[in-house]
Amino acid sequence: MARIIAIASQKGGVGKTTTAINLAAYVAKAGHRCLLVDLDPQANASSGLGVEAPPHSPLPPILDGSMPWTQMVTETTVSALSCLPSTTHPTIPLTQAMARGQGAGQLRECWKQAENDQLEVVLLDCPPSLGPLTDLALQLADSVLVPVQCEYFAMEGLAQMLEAVQRAQQSHQREIPLEGLVLTLFSPEVEICHEVAEEVRRYFPQETMQTPILRDPTLAEASSHGQPICNYDPRSAGAWSYLNLAKEVLEHEWTETGTRA
Ligand SMILES: Nc1ncnc2c1ncn2[C@@H]1O[C@H](COP(=O)(O)OP(=O)(O)OP(=O)(O)O)[C@@H](O)[C@H]1O
Ligand SMILES: [Mg+2]
Repeated sequence: MARIIAIASQKGGVGKTTTAINLAAYVAKAGHRCLLVDLDPQANASSGLGVEAPPHSPLPPILDGSMPWTQMVTETTVSALSCLPSTTHPTIPLTQAMARGQGAGQLRECWKQAENDQLEVVLLDCPPSLGPLTDLALQLADSVLVPVQCEYFAMEGLAQMLEAVQRAQQSHQREIPLEGLVLTLFSPEVEICHEVAEEVRRYFPQETMQTPILRDPTLAEASSHGQPICNYDPRSAGAWSYLNLAKEVLEHEWTETGTRA
C-alpha cells in the first residue's frame, strides 16, 4: 500500500521541487518503488529528472477517467523511480471542480491499492500557491511535508500553509497529518538560519525533521543537468542531506491502512 506525501508550501523558491526530486531518488535507491508526480505547470521536477515534457498535461485525462495513470508514467535514470510529468506547454488549466471531482478519489484509491512491487511511495510536487493544484495534492495525500526556508518570515509562511492543511482536512473529512517540516537552504555560517531553525523546532518539536537540508549549489547544478544529486555528485553536502532525510522519512511509522501513525 503506497504512502502518498504532498510536498507543499505556498511560498516560492523554498526547495519543494529540489526536495521532491532528491527525496524521491534516495527513497528509490533504498529499494522502495517510488513515483514522483509533478503537479506544477513550471514542470521543474520533470526537467530536474531529465524527463521530457509531454505536449499536454496528463492530469485532465487521468482525472476524468479517460486515461489510466500508468500510461502517462515515464521511467527515470534512477531505477525504481518513475515520474508522472507536468508540461510547460499551454494546456487546459485545472479547475477547482476537476480537482475536487470523483477522479481524484479514484486516483488515490488506485495508488493506495497498488502492490508494493508496483508502488510504495508517491511524492507530489506542488506549485507555489494554494490554488486548485495544491488542493488536489492535499486531496490525494496521506500526509504533507512542508519545506521551510531558513529565512526571515519563515514562520508567517508556515502558519498560512498549516491553515490550508486544516481547511483541506475539514473539506475532505479526514486527517492529513504532517509528514514533517523540513528546514531547507540551511547555511551553518549564517546566524539567521540558526534563529529560524530554533524557532521552528521550539514551536514544532515533534514535527520538525532532524535533518536540515544544507545550502549547496551542487543541488541546483544537478537539477540544471536533469539529474538527481545521487547521480550527479553523491559525495556533496546536498546529497548527504537528502540521503539522511530519506532515511528519516522511511523510518516514520505508518498504520496498517497506510496513514501516518
Ligand atoms: N539546498 C539548496 N542549496 C542550494 N540551492 C538550492 C537548494 N534547494 C533549492 N535550491 C535552488 O533554489 C531554487 C529554488 O528551489 P526549488 O525550485 O526547489 O524551490 P521550489 O519551492 O520548488 O520553487 P517554486 O516555488 O518556484 O516551485 C532552485 O534554483 C534550486 O536549484
Ligand atoms: Mg517547485
